Amino acid sequence: MSAWAEARIRAGKRISLVPTMGFFHEGHLCLMRRAAQTADLVVVSLFVNPIQFGPGEDLDRYPRDMERDAGLAWKEGVAVLFAPAREAMYPELPQTRVTVAGLSEGLCGLTRPGHFDGVCTVVAKLFNIVKPATAVFGSKDYQQLAVIRKMTADLNWNIDIVAHPIVRDHNGLAMSSRNSYLSAEERRSALALVKAIDVARAMTGRGINDADRLLAELEIIIKMHDNVEIEYLTIVDSRNLQVQKNVDNQSLLAMAIRVGGTRLIDNAMLFEEAGEFQC
Ligand code: PAJ
Repeated sequence: MSAWAEARIRAGKRISLVPTMGFFHEGHLCLMRRAAQTADLVVVSLFVNPIQFGPGEDLDRYPRDMERDAGLAWKEGVAVLFAPAREAMYPELPQTRVTVAGLSEGLCGLTRPGHFDGVCTVVAKLFNIVKPATAVFGSKDYQQLAVIRKMTADLNWNIDIVAHPIVRDHNGLAMSSRNSYLSAEERRSALALVKAIDVARAMTGRGINDADRLLAELEIIIKMHDNVEIEYLTIVDSRNLQVQKNVDNQSLLAMAIRVGGTRLIDNAMLFEEAGEFQC
């Protein structure tokens, strides 16, 4: 992969990288299309990164379908689908971790200790191997995007981090490889996230800007759905992920819930127009 990238770069080509863990859905494919607009060649990495999963998480049952993924990437005109074996990425137990303090600590960092270190470490390795000019990440994982932006700036990589909006299905549910774990009933419950975003926007639209009052209402709405447990439900400043008391035009509603055994996340800027994104 490195040799391929170096030869292309010497020939004056710019590479865009789309890091993924595979089991592609429309969200991943949109990222690939976006990547193609930002550079000459698109490299998609597919690696289910063991060091970002905690004990008891779904590393072993994470959905995989390499054949299907390869076909989809091919159709998108991707130059390389880089799918290293675990032993190729980690020939020995890695003793180095890349930590972005601060931004990694709240939200998903609270319940998934070490998760963002695992993400940053693998993305740092991918940046060094692929040497991209641009890299595309989805804002579905808003905290991940913020952490990677910060890592890239702090470590002086000359890589343009491109954010892609959340891609949703026709019901508004954010696409995720983990949606494949959901039964039909659980899928209905997962729409609690969509409902919460709608209600939050409607309330802020009516001038309600007290975050606690909004969150209390959203909690009731989410709990009306079967089999749903809230992991976090919060309103933060989208620039620094700090919790807000009062809503303003930087406010991001961020949520993680469990539906049955499946952990789902979603987020939305409160003052943006609703509506699914199509690419
Ligand atoms: P994965 O969950 O496969 O996601 C790969 C990329 O697709 C991420 O940037 C993610 O934000 C984006 N994505 C997923 N669902 C999306 C949706 N509905 N709309 C828009 N973008 C979406 O995130 C990871 O893998 C890993 O942590 C990784 C960065 C590859 C490091 O291992």
